[in-house]
Amino acid sequence: MTQIRSQPVSRRPGELGVHSLDHFNFSVPDLEQARKFYSFFGLDVREEGNRINLHTHGHPHRWGSVVEDSRKKLQFISFGAFEDDLPRFRERLEAMRIERIDPPPGVHSNGLWFRNPDGVAHEIRVAEKSSPNEKSTLESISSPAGIAGAPANSTKPLVRPRRLAHMLVFTRDIPKTIAFYRDVLGLRLSDRSGDMIAFMHAIHGSDHHVIAFVKADGPGLHHVSWDMPSINEIGLGAMQMADKGFTAGWGLGRHVLGSNYFHYVRDPWGSYSEYSADVDYIAVDQDWKGGDHPPEDSFYVWGPTPPADFAINHEGAAA
Ligand SMILES: [Fe+2]
Repeated sequence: MTQIRSQPVSRRPGELGVHSLDHFNFSVPDLEQARKFYSFFGLDVREEGNRINLHTHGHPHRWGSVVEDSRKKLQFISFGAFEDDLPRFRERLEAMRIERIDPPPGVHSNGLWFRNPDGVAHEIRVAEKSSPNEKSTLESISSPAGIAGAPANSTKPLVRPRRLAHMLVFTRDIPKTIAFYRDVLGLRLSDRSGDMIAFMHAIHGSDHHVIAFVKADGPGLHHVSWDMPSINEIGLGAMQMADKGFTAGWGLGRHVLGSNYFHYVRDPWGSYSEYSADVDYIAVDQDWKGGDHPPEDSFYVWGPTPPADFAINHEGAAA
């Protein structure tokens, strides 16, 4: 987190776009189960009324909230914008005839609320830029000759993710979704694989993707991803979750698009929480030369075979 704050806030002059994926909100049928899962994962889980808020230890930002409802469902996604850009976003929504909606019940916010093409509520709100202003560091630790490098199992440290990295959501229509997030929120396409998956970044300096989309029969949350300082800590995190009974998932591996090292832990609702490290970064003054990549050159460079149901939307078409 220190590397987020050590750099001045980056901003691309004259162009309108959100700067961060500010926070997400989804429901689950058992909030206590969620509290345990994310606490074991290494997050700072704070209870507030009838919801839990997901923080990373030592960082003031609230990256997400989980509420209790009859089933797991992506409720809304909130993006952060610079204060003086908010009137321009308001004008843009009006010019595009995008219907404004009220905030969801129980949410107090004076941001701009509307729905994406899949009907999922979205917000643009004034917020501190929580996306990093430079590429996050990757630590590699090696011990000198004569000193044992690995800790004992009994003394291995618990991992703590540094920040939210991104989220991946299901959508019915990839081309329509790319156009919507480009034209409304000002995100830019980083890379895609046909009409199956797409990755988008924020124009004021962000990771290769703040949000990504995968085609399905309806909207839903596939995974949320958390930035880790090292590949070693991805492995430690996977063991930390396995020790608590969360053995299902996918990893260790390395993605092609975005380049990050990963381990996904399956949550109790069939979606995933990802430990991620060294994802590509797109600086504020760079125009990323993305592409449309064949499926075999999109998913992963190395790693175990993914679970057969990895891309299944358990929220279903009824969402
Ligand atoms: Fe991811």
